[in-house]
Amino acid sequence: MEIKQKLADLARTIEEDIAKTSDLASMEDIRIKHFGKKSELLEILKNIKNYQPEERPVIGQVANKIKNILTEKLNNKKINFQAKQQKESLDSTLDGNPFVRGSLHPITTVKAQIVNIFQKLGFGISEGPDMETDYYNFTSLNFPHDHPARDEQDTFFLDKNDKDENKPLLLRTHTSPVQIRYMKAHKPPFQIVVPGTVYRSDSDVSHTPMFHQVEGLAVGENITFANLKWILSEFLYQMFGSSIDIRFRPSFFPFTEPSVEVDISCVICGGTGCRVCKNSGWLEILGAGMVHPNVFKSAGYDPEYIQGFAFGMGVERVAMLKYEINDIRLFYENDLRFLKQFR
Ligand code: DAH
Repeated sequence: MEIKQKLADLARTIEEDIAKTSDLASMEDIRIKHFGKKSELLEILKNIKNYQPEERPVIGQVANKIKNILTEKLNNKKINFQAKQQKESLDSTLDGNPFVRGSLHPITTVKAQIVNIFQKLGFGISEGPDMETDYYNFTSLNFPHDHPARDEQDTFFLDKNDKDENKPLLLRTHTSPVQIRYMKAHKPPFQIVVPGTVYRSDSDVSHTPMFHQVEGLAVGENITFANLKWILSEFLYQMFGSSIDIRFRPSFFPFTEPSVEVDISCVICGGTGCRVCKNSGWLEILGAGMVHPNVFKSAGYDPEYIQGFAFGMGVERVAMLKYEINDIRLFYENDLRFLKQFR
């Protein structure tokens, strides 16, 4: 039978062609040539009706068998070739992918630096709630009822219609309420710092609605303004370097008497005057003072026997001066180009 011989010859030709292939392109060429729509094998199957009816099933079987067996052979050759190629292209002596390291946020770093310095000076650490009552945030700290800081412009109220002084109804505007919480729960003498987030409805180049403060409180029977002055000077020298000048300037806070604001010589111009220090040569860095007798009374202490000093500072402000950053909002935009500089 002529057709059987033809199929046998074709099978041999296909096998030889497969054996000759040496890359993916030639394998694809062979697949199209022998198994594609215009291949000889498909022509035979398409025109099977031209053969004798009794021959047809045999021709069909043989042609399909050739197609199936040799397609599989070609496919296997392709898979083996790809596997080998992959193995050869794998160079185990190459470096791995670089491991990108994250870093602490500059605010986290500076907050830790501030707290560490005070820890070395013998201070403990305490914390308090972000949601506060009017009592702890204002009243207990000797704020008069009509004090402007209670104004809605600064304070985020959670429920301003609630008149219960003891229910949390605002986001604390400073870390000072922790002074009262700590004093109520502990007996003097002690000295603590209180790092934490605080909230004020304010936003511009030097204000964000949420920011960080570190509060300080030292209480005992013999604590004087001289202790305040030494501790804060020591802190500032360690934080900004021993070459800075420090100035204690009279000020006012409801919860301290006397009160001071502490300035350092401008870290940008060294005190000669520039844009950052508004040509004054000085930068305000923290508020402080001797704890007001009314604050001690709020905590249940007798101000006849107990004295202390307190201070508070903004972490963002310290970080801005330390790293010479001119817009506070950069801290909270999470721009990697900014953050990467603190690795
Ligand atoms: N609570 C003040 C503020 O938010 C900062 C401050 C000033 C805290 C003087 C104190 C202090 O403890 O004695 O601006």
